[in-house]
Amino acid sequence: MNTPAMVTSQTAATLKASLTQGAANVEVMLDRLIPQVTDDSARLIDAMRYATLGGGKRLRAYLVMETATLFNVAPESACRVGASVEMLHAYSLVHDDLPAMDDDDLRRGQPSTHRKFDEATAILAGDALQTLAFEVIADPAMHEDATIRADLVLCLARASGAAGMVGGQMIDMEGEGKSLPLAAVRHLHALKTGCLIRYATEAGAILGKASTVQRDALITYGRDIGAAFQIADDVLDATASAEDLGKTAGKDEASGKSTFVALLGIEGARAEAEALARSAVDALNIFDEKADNLRALARYVIERKN
Ligand code: IPE
Ligand code: IPE
Ligand code: MG
Ligand code: MG
Ligand code: MG
Repeated sequence: MNTPAMVTSQTAATLKASLTQGAANVEVMLDRLIPQVTDDSARLIDAMRYATLGGGKRLRAYLVMETATLFNVAPESACRVGASVEMLHAYSLVHDDLPAMDDDDLRRGQPSTHRKFDEATAILAGDALQTLAFEVIADPAMHEDATIRADLVLCLARASGAAGMVGGQMIDMEGEGKSLPLAAVRHLHALKTGCLIRYATEAGAILGKASTVQRDALITYGRDIGAAFQIADDVLDATASAEDLGKTAGKDEASGKSTFVALLGIEGARAEAEALARSAVDALNIFDEKADNLRALARYVIERKN
């Protein structure tokens, strides 16, 4: 069985090439879906493009595209859904960086959107990216099957709203300066980061008309790598440089955030992420070697440098 510890350098190299290709494809799609304009919405569109294009690991888009390949979904459809989830994610980052939230000046190695433009423009660009994300997956150009479109819209709404990403951000903000217990931090991570990553893996199953067993397996995989991903983010915040991260380092401790690092220390947090990555790989047991990039991704998620 292929566990994270047994991912060979060959599979890691294959994954790297596949991630690079996936990111390039989604970049082209985002550029097509948010075209530059010269009319009176130019400043808003410029801010949307600034927040979305030219950066980011494109992990969520990759998850959509790679899970979709398990079911031989048309690449154009999967890429559109991938671009949509990256828009939703970019909106969450723009708002996360605002002075009222994490007050961060740096994102993806550049001034954060409210620093490059202004706060009102950043808020509105985030709002418009969110609605565009839904427009893209509701559009018949994404997929001819209205049931698939509706299922994607429903799942994205659930993943990103009060019971998902936004709800998690609220708990994160309310938890500043308090020491939340471990179970509460797990819940916070599952909502603010896990729900959207889990959606990305479920989206591939929806596009592929997967069986319930297949869909549940991908949901479990997404849930576990989502949790591992946020723990890795907290570890990087405490250990990496702003130059490597492309965002401010040491922010969580300075803001009094409740993180795995604060509760378990760096090594304890790493051990938790490792266990989650193994559990994610186990969830893929029902799939053949077509899922090898997803298996390798579980290791990438916890070993990444930014
Ligand atoms: C950052 O997400 C916010 C978290 C949920 C931890 P990413 O680390 O995926 O950010 P980009 O898209 O690569 O910039
Ligand atoms: C943000 O978590 C998660 C979102 C929903 C945007 P963080 O606040 O830890 O993300 P970074 O570290 O600023 O990217
Ligand atoms: Mg935050
Ligand atoms: Mg932040
Ligand atoms: Mg962080």
